[in-house]
Amino acid sequence: MKNLLLNNENGILTITINRPDKLNALNTETIQELKQTFLDIFEDESVKGIIIVGSGTKAFVAGADITEFIGLTPEEGQKLSAEGQEVFDRIELFSKPVIAAVNGFALGGGCELAMACHLRVASDNAKFGQPEVKLGLIPGYGGTQRLVQLIGKGKAMEYLMTAEMISAEQAERWGLVNYVTTPEQLIPKCVELLNKILMQSPVAIHGIVNSVSDYFTEGLDGFIGENIEFGTCFGSEDFKEGTSAFIEKRKPVFTGK
Ligand code: COA
Repeated sequence: MKNLLLNNENGILTITINRPDKLNALNTETIQELKQTFLDIFEDESVKGIIIVGSGTKAFVAGADITEFIGLTPEEGQKLSAEGQEVFDRIELFSKPVIAAVNGFALGGGCELAMACHLRVASDNAKFGQPEVKLGLIPGYGGTQRLVQLIGKGKAMEYLMTAEMISAEQAERWGLVNYVTTPEQLIPKCVELLNKILMQSPVAIHGIVNSVSDYFTEGLDGFIGENIEFGTCFGSEDFKEGTSAFIEKRKPVFTGK
């Protein structure tokens, strides 16, 4: 990978977006590398959970790479958006937990990438924003949709229309991030959260991802989705192990089968 650093420690894969001289802006090559990475790790049993972070101390991701926008036709713009949306949807629906470690600017596509992750932890120097309107654009990687889901329509409208950046604390108050930490505690907090999740049944975690996503998917009834996922759990080894462990008053050892 040219623009991503990958490091697996004890089953937690840290994906570092590594274009620090461009504040980790997402060019199409980086988006494609993200797509490939999530395809590669889908069936990789050595990867249990994922952290996405930006290289350096200044930015998580300062947006899509604006230099690639120049001269695009409406059709090409729509294609760029569709490709980005596909990758971010893949992250949102990923069967293993994905946490964004927001270590600086999370602007435009950077904020959208963080929102596509299952959870967000921000360092106290992080800044969030969807400044696309300043460029005569709107967000194109799911920002108008996921922001409404996370913070509600009224605040989302203000955030999208004013292009103003907000602090990590404000983002936490609005429900855009789960936790704010010092820069030093950012990755340890993500690891702590992932370890809590990784103690649970991977089958059930996948069911949670699917069911919660169904709530927001046009044409899907989340209650029906939940009903199917609930039933699926009963056919799993994890369910047998979880209930046996409860009866036998011991900790379960889940296999994700
Ligand atoms: N796309 C392409 N390049 C970007 C970028 C982006 N989204 N964001 C930053 N960069 C580049 C800058 O062009 C600069 O490159 P250069 O050194 O070759 O000139 C480098 O990253 C450093 O950025 P710079 O603007 O000098 O840093 P700063 O501290 O003065 O400002 C920001 C930081 C984040 C406020 C500013 O870079 C910015 O506004 N970026 C664009 C944010 C944006 O609109 N994102 C949404 C895109 S849809």
